[in-house]
Amino acid sequence: MTEYVKISDAEGVRTIAFSRTDKKNALTREMYDAAANALNGAQNDPEIRVVLFAGEGDSFTAGNDLNDFLEHPPFSEDGPSPVERFMTALMEAKKPVVAAVGGLSVGIGVTMLLHCDLVYASRMATFSTPFVKLALAPEFASSITMPAVMGCAKAAEMLLLGEKLSAEEAERAGLVARVFADEELIEQATARCRKLAKLAPGAVADAKTLLRAPAEDLAARMQREGKLFNERLGSDEFKEAAGAFFERREPDFSKFG
Ligand code: COA
Repeated sequence: MTEYVKISDAEGVRTIAFSRTDKKNALTREMYDAAANALNGAQNDPEIRVVLFAGEGDSFTAGNDLNDFLEHPPFSEDGPSPVERFMTALMEAKKPVVAAVGGLSVGIGVTMLLHCDLVYASRMATFSTPFVKLALAPEFASSITMPAVMGCAKAAEMLLLGEKLSAEEAERAGLVARVFADEELIEQATARCRKLAKLAPGAVADAKTLLRAPAEDLAARMQREGKLFNERLGSDEFKEAAGAFFERREPDFSKFG
């Protein structure tokens, strides 16, 4: 347990908020552990449909705590370190993960966004990955995920030069889905999470899996989608969706877990 990560559940959404504001929410080993536990716990909790990451104060996170970095190298040969547990939990999450970036986001604060399903930002948000400037290296597959998300040119500016993107630039680059006024970010991101939480959970999980699956041959993907589509047509979730359409009512997917 750490006071620096705040976890709250409401309306199917688990919010995991970094809350170490005097250090710009720089992430310690205890914070990674707390966030990993909250994220893993959400996967087995039928009440939770969506996870939302946020940062309190004027930062999302200033990245890994640099003191911690020096004392505990994050990549360990004696089993997974806290940051590895956290990033593995993120990469393996079956439920959708959303991030609301309301200020600066540095290093792993950006690396983790590349594994989120939706990233929202406020106008004051900035994004930077100064690994090479710090004489370090890209991490957690960001040398693959960043060019895949924003193209090689922007990824090189970020990963080689360590250049900072504004919220609007990050939206144009495809890292951010939408930018909101600073005071509206959390409300808007939460509303979208609640919308996601009301959708059919199996359908959401299948779509997430497809969106995050490694590139494959188009014909193979078409076949995979076709098989899934037929399975979905036979699902109780589809029966509820179709029933709701013909009965002219809102579908209720709350009984599906
Ligand atoms: N690790 C540990 N402490 C950090 C930190 C980090 N990653 N980022 C910020 N802090 C601490 C500062 O040391 C300072 O602590 P202090 O008040 O006890 O001196 C406090 O947070 C506020 O930071 P400060 O630098 O005064 O704020 P700023 O608004 O001028 O700058 C940053 C903010 C994020 C641009 C700057 O702190 C910074 O560059 N941090 C390092 C980011 C980084 O390199 N992350 C790792 C990438 S791999």
